[in-house]
Amino acid sequence: MVLVRAARDEDAAAIRDICVRGYRKTYPTLLSSEFIERMLAEFFTLERVTAEVAAAPPGWLGYQVAEEDGRIVGAGVGGLTAPGVGELFTLYLDPDERGRGLGTLLLDRVTGQLRAAGATEMWVAALDGNELAIPFYQARGFRKVERRRTYGSTEADDAWSWRFSRPI
Ligand SMILES: CC(C)(COP(=O)(O)OP(=O)(O)OC[C@H]1O[C@@H](n2cnc3c(N)ncnc32)[C@H](O)[C@@H]1OP(=O)(O)O)[C@@H](O)C(=O)NCCC(=O)NCCS
Repeated sequence: MVLVRAARDEDAAAIRDICVRGYRKTYPTLLSSEFIERMLAEFFTLERVTAEVAAAPPGWLGYQVAEEDGRIVGAGVGGLTAPGVGELFTLYLDPDERGRGLGTLLLDRVTGQLRAAGATEMWVAALDGNELAIPFYQARGFRKVERRRTYGSTEADDAWSWRFSRPI
C-alpha cells in the first residue's frame, strides 16, 4: 500500500537518504564524482533538508513523499517560479523501486499542488543524457524547450540540462 503525502519533520533523514542514493546512482557516467559530491554537500545535507521540510523557501510547496509500509520510497518537491508558472525542483526514488508507478504518483501530487497554486504550465530540468528521467518526463507529456547550464554548476563543470515544459 503506497501513500503519497506531505512530508513531516521526522521524514527529513529518509528524504535526504533517497536523494543522495538517487543522485549517486543516476549521474556517475554523466558527471564527475567531485561535482556530484559538491552538489550533495550543497543541496542535500540533513540540515538543509530538515530546514526545507520545516519551513519551505518562498515559492516552494513543500516536500512530498511516497511511503510504502511505513518506509519512505520516494520524494519530490515543486513550487512557483512566477505567477502561473510551476516547476518540479526535485524528484528521486529509492533506486530499487523505479518503474513501479511511484514517480508518477509523486509527479501527479506535485502537479495537483501547482494547479491549486494557480499554475497553468509546469517545468522540469533534467541533466542532458539522463536516460533514467528524460523518457519518463516525455511519457508524461513534457516537451524539450531549451538546454542550459545545470543549476548550481560552474563553467568549468561543463554540465548541461534540458528544460522541459508541459501545460497543466
Ligand atoms: C524518474 C523517476 C522519478 C520516474 O519514476 P518511476 O517510478 O521510475 O516511473 P513510473 O513507473 O511512474 O513511470 C514510468 C513511465 O515512464 C516511461 N519510461 C520510459 N523510459 C523510462 C525510463 N528510462 N525510466 C523511467 N520511466 C521510463 C515508462 O514507459 C512509464 O510510462 P507508461 O506508464 O506510460 O508506460 C525514477 O525513475 C527515478 O528516480 N529516476 C532516477 C532519478 C532521476 O533521474 N530523477 C529525476 C531528476 S530530474
